[in-house]
Amino acid sequence: MKILGIESSCDETAASVVEGGNGIAVLSNVVASQIDEHRLYGGVVPEIASRRHAENISWVVRESLLKAECTLDDIDAIAVTYAPGLIGALLVGISFAKGLALSSGKPLIPVHHIAGHIAANYLTHPDLEPPYLCLVISGGHSHIIEVKDYTHYHVIGRTRDDAAGECFDKAARVLGYEYPGGKFIDAAAKQGDPDAFKLPKPRIAGSEFDFSFSGLKTAVINAVHNAEQKGEPIKREDMAASFQKTVADTLVERTMAAAKMLGSKKLAIAGGVSANSGVRSAFDKACTDRGIKLYMPELKYCGDNAAMIACQGYYDHMAGKRGDMSLNGIATLSLDKISE
Ligand code: KG4
Ligand code: ZN
Repeated sequence: MKILGIESSCDETAASVVEGGNGIAVLSNVVASQIDEHRLYGGVVPEIASRRHAENISWVVRESLLKAECTLDDIDAIAVTYAPGLIGALLVGISFAKGLALSSGKPLIPVHHIAGHIAANYLTHPDLEPPYLCLVISGGHSHIIEVKDYTHYHVIGRTRDDAAGECFDKAARVLGYEYPGGKFIDAAAKQGDPDAFKLPKPRIAGSEFDFSFSGLKTAVINAVHNAEQKGEPIKREDMAASFQKTVADTLVERTMAAAKMLGSKKLAIAGGVSANSGVRSAFDKACTDRGIKLYMPELKYCGDNAAMIACQGYYDHMAGKRGDMSLNGIATLSLDKISE
């Protein structure tokens, strides 16, 4: 069964064809990034994102069909991200997918973006099967999720303020790196001393599995500004390394507490920040020490892409989920809500 997936929730216009059945094979994976334009503003500008999606969606989808060596006739269902995300951006992908579904008579499958990030792991690890625990860390989300089956989830921990990726990007900005700065912190951290700065690891009273990253972000900003005022600029590689270690340790600590509570022996990580080398090695070590099997997506499936949406679309299709011509975008929607 071939699924066409479409993703336009933020600043990547993406389309992919996957073949589901005996595992999931990725036949094409096209991503048109707008990041060079948003970088000028230090963040994603929603209005610009919507306009670029409108310009790109048609050729991106056509390219994904061409690369997969198929036509719309060969496609069995059209999956599209409908939540969460920037509304104007989501609506471009949704409207395009609706048009394709209506004109071709193929089923329309609404896919939750975070469910897509989780599903990125099935592309890399055909042996991964629910139930398992998954940590999703992206620019907009930090969630510890119990994946009960391919379409049911229970969120057991989340950030109370900034998402992990947001914190990386803000720390990067004050250190003088371009947006989005996560990957620059990753590269700089390799040259720095992770013990050079002692940074706070906030705990939230009464909720062992929740995160709070805003205090850490503020600590980095204050340290950099104080040093500048004294005329003794800090070595940014050292701050990058200390910051990255603090984030990785915090993520590992909370996730391992959740794994212990649930008795999970399988853990997946997903989302843009799961590409971080420090985070990957910290989880590798923690899981090896505890006899937990760790699953991580290939780097190309960590950030936003449509192969993960098509993959989750396959499972949603098998579970009988369908959208109709009234399908709308939803800016905020918990995974718990779609599992009721
Ligand atoms: O999953 P994603 O592509 O988009 C959202 O759904 O938000 O995640 C983007 C986030 C950005 O904050 C970016 O800086 C971060 O992922 N990121 C990284 C790395 N690569 C991307 N953060 C840390 N280290 C990296 N290597
Ligand atoms: Zn994402």
